[in-house]
Amino acid sequence: MQQVTVSAFGGTENLQVKTVNPVQPKSTEVVIQLTSVGLNQADLMARRGEYRLSSGAPPFTPGIEGGGVITAVGSQVVNRQVGQRVILTIAAPHKVGTYRSQFVTAARNTVVVPDGIPDDLIGALWLAFATAWGALVWRQKIQPGQTLMLPAASSSVAISASQIAKSAGAIVIGTTTSPEKVDALQHISAAKYDHIVVTSANTATGKAEPWWRQIKKITGGKGVDVIFDPVAAGDFLHHEIRLLAKGGTLWVYGLLGTPDTVDVSPLIRKDAAIRGWLLNALVDTPAEQAAYQHILKNVAAGVYQLPIATTFSLDRVREAHEAMEIGSHIGKYVLMPALSSD
Ligand SMILES: NC(=O)c1ccc[n+]([C@@H]2O[C@H](COP(=O)([O-])OP(=O)(O)OC[C@H]3O[C@@H](n4cnc5c(N)ncnc54)[C@H](OP(=O)(O)O)[C@@H]3O)[C@@H](O)[C@H]2O)c1
Repeated sequence: MQQVTVSAFGGTENLQVKTVNPVQPKSTEVVIQLTSVGLNQADLMARRGEYRLSSGAPPFTPGIEGGGVITAVGSQVVNRQVGQRVILTIAAPHKVGTYRSQFVTAARNTVVVPDGIPDDLIGALWLAFATAWGALVWRQKIQPGQTLMLPAASSSVAISASQIAKSAGAIVIGTTTSPEKVDALQHISAAKYDHIVVTSANTATGKAEPWWRQIKKITGGKGVDVIFDPVAAGDFLHHEIRLLAKGGTLWVYGLLGTPDTVDVSPLIRKDAAIRGWLLNALVDTPAEQAAYQHILKNVAAGVYQLPIATTFSLDRVREAHEAMEIGSHIGKYVLMPALSSD
């Protein structure tokens, strides 16, 4: 079977595609032929050595999501069968990595996928939606009429969050650092933004109104109830804190920005909060299965959509990482492992 290994922390030259022996299931395990593997910023960080808590030291196989078809079941497995299509749960790839054509895991670490979701999507759809659902619905309990700001509007997580929040009745403001993506974002049906605001060019040229004033106006001067932010650093965070409405919450879920010192004192008079969010908080809670079922049901019904930026065969993994690093994409990059007969 095919397997990608990071041989040393650093650039994409350290991604090696190898052929290794096929895997066999233990009694409670299943073997899955992965048909798709979603690419995530966490994979790039792991390769660069910026996520060692998760990756460990090289050599390791990156990848935190995947899905495919069961090809073998262990002797004690009763609730899974060969031929079933499944996604891997959040816990399944822990310190194992999904950049491979075959994945072996406990049967309980899989969720059966309904018909209607294509093979090239099953390994790439839940991470973005579960990240958004867990924070905004499970933890935040976002309410109809509340305003939500989603930075990195072209990212897979923000696009997923826009759909979940619109379904909950929120008013969604996407922000993007990329003026050239605005037109596309306005035309992609999956991107459910009521407003899109560019956060880069306006401040740089000084010609247009600063982005934070545009957003304040959109909210009628009240400020934003909820911000779900993967940047959360430096000048951007400074303005976000000032944009929060009374009682507002800023969720920090990513590390795209460069950490800096920020004055948080407006939080006091606003009775506002900054909270962190990591998807793994869902693991082993009743909400975890609820999240999977909610996402699968809505994707199968066409209510939720995940735009695919590009698919790459697994042996083109270096190209895929390089493309994601450039950042001109909208939506998800997907790796497609080779169908193996091994
Ligand atoms: N906490 C969790 O459980 C969890 C789970 C999944 C993902 N994440 C995090 O979520 C973030 C997004 O992941 P993703 O897979 O959705 O990424 P993605 O689809 O690759 O999106 C990346 C986008 O972020 C924006 N961006 C990149 N660098 C930026 C910067 N320095 N400042 C501001 N914006 C920047 C750009 O969007 P624009 O061009 O539109 O500005 C870029 O296209 C990552 O930080 C990832 O680690 C966290």
